[in-house]
Amino acid sequence: MHLEETSLQLLKDSLKQLDNGFAALPPAAENTAPTYDPRLTAVMNEVATKLQDNYPYFHPLYAGQMLKPPHPIARAAYALATWINPNNHALDGGRASSALEKEAVAQIAAMFGWREHLGHLCGGGTMANLEALWVAGQLHFGKKILASDQSHYTHKRISAVLQLPFAHVPTDNRGRMDTSALEKMLAAGDVGCVVATEGTTGTGSVDPLPEILRLRERYGFRLHVDAAYGGYFTLASNLTAETRASFELIGRADSIVIDPHKHGLQPYGCGCVLFRDPQVGAIYKHESPYTYFTSSELHLGEISLECSRPGASAVALWATQRLLPLVRGGEFAGMLEASRDAAVQFAERLANDARWVLPFAPELDIVVWAPRAKTIAEISALSQRIFDAAAKQNLYLALIRVPIKFFLAQHNLQASATDTVLCLRSVLMKPEHRDWLDRIWTILSRVADGVLSR
Ligand SMILES: Cc1ncc(COP(=O)(O)O)c(C=O)c1O
Repeated sequence: MHLEETSLQLLKDSLKQLDNGFAALPPAAENTAPTYDPRLTAVMNEVATKLQDNYPYFHPLYAGQMLKPPHPIARAAYALATWINPNNHALDGGRASSALEKEAVAQIAAMFGWREHLGHLCGGGTMANLEALWVAGQLHFGKKILASDQSHYTHKRISAVLQLPFAHVPTDNRGRMDTSALEKMLAAGDVGCVVATEGTTGTGSVDPLPEILRLRERYGFRLHVDAAYGGYFTLASNLTAETRASFELIGRADSIVIDPHKHGLQPYGCGCVLFRDPQVGAIYKHESPYTYFTSSELHLGEISLECSRPGASAVALWATQRLLPLVRGGEFAGMLEASRDAAVQFAERLANDARWVLPFAPELDIVVWAPRAKTIAEISALSQRIFDAAAKQNLYLALIRVPIKFFLAQHNLQASATDTVLCLRSVLMKPEHRDWLDRIWTILSRVADGVLSR
């Protein structure tokens, strides 16, 4: 069996404990005595068969996109909560799970050094960034949002949804925001919010917060940190000094987005937005005659744009953080350090091998690299062939199109500034990737020899 089954046992045991809490209720026949219906088994087998049409995201040989399996405790806790199916919009719909959400979110805020904050879970990074930029737009109405040209596409799109002007800030040769270019744009005086990405989606590059914060002192913009992917690396002890300097300053932002469904071991549907100033809650203020009846305590729907939300997400996150607290030197931090080690070691092998070109060392756990060749067209074609051939050997990589400027220092290429090249990418976000590196390397080498010799 390749798939873990621990969560099934956990679920079975905890379901009994949950049930005990409702012992005073009279039995409801349809719940307590379900009749066996063979159609259920048939449909579930059909579902399982259909789900086989997936890359094996759970396996260490899946070293492609930003996908990581949830922890068994998260799976079990999420499933357990569905027996109640709480709705974290209001305390009326999810009392316990709302309390767990507040605790779990406070623990995330504390990871960034925030004792006070306003924050909540939401559907994911896009929804979380939408809320952060919405608040920025409410506070600096009509002013521009800036994010780097390597930021997630969501920022440009969200700005359009919010009808806020948006512009990209150019990046340097390592995919980080170019702060000289940023300063020129700020000088125009029409910027309301700068988005700093601490871990870009494509290359894991980290925008330089020390310089960006210096510019904030001078130009006075709102700073939003998109740490949807990278945020948890705050706990890792093996970042370079330069990257660490930026992570140490995340807490100076006005708002932060971090996705527990990326590096936080959660099933999809779990993003988190945090605001440093709890007063921004006033911006969310609205009346809801339907739901806010039972208490004067905060209902999470009063401080979030989404209405119904799965309480199960909060339950799973709380359980995971209970088991694996968000502390430096802890077991969870060790998992991130293992992923980062895997990326560093993989990058070193690539850099020391004449078949490959590594544009820059990874800042977090994403490695981007390309086969050595004479033209951009050749590099792109070879990347595609290696990607396809690796998948046939059960090694699943990703492809990414990046600006050619990332490669110009290492590659002697004729190119214009706007050219892009297709290259290979691995998000080594499972801690097991470190132990599997030799096997990954062996398969990659074999595949590359086959493709490059043709
Ligand atoms: C930096 C960053 N921001 C935002 C997002 C969007 O998050 P989601 O896919 O959860 O909506 C991503 C997704 O990869 C990301 O990496």
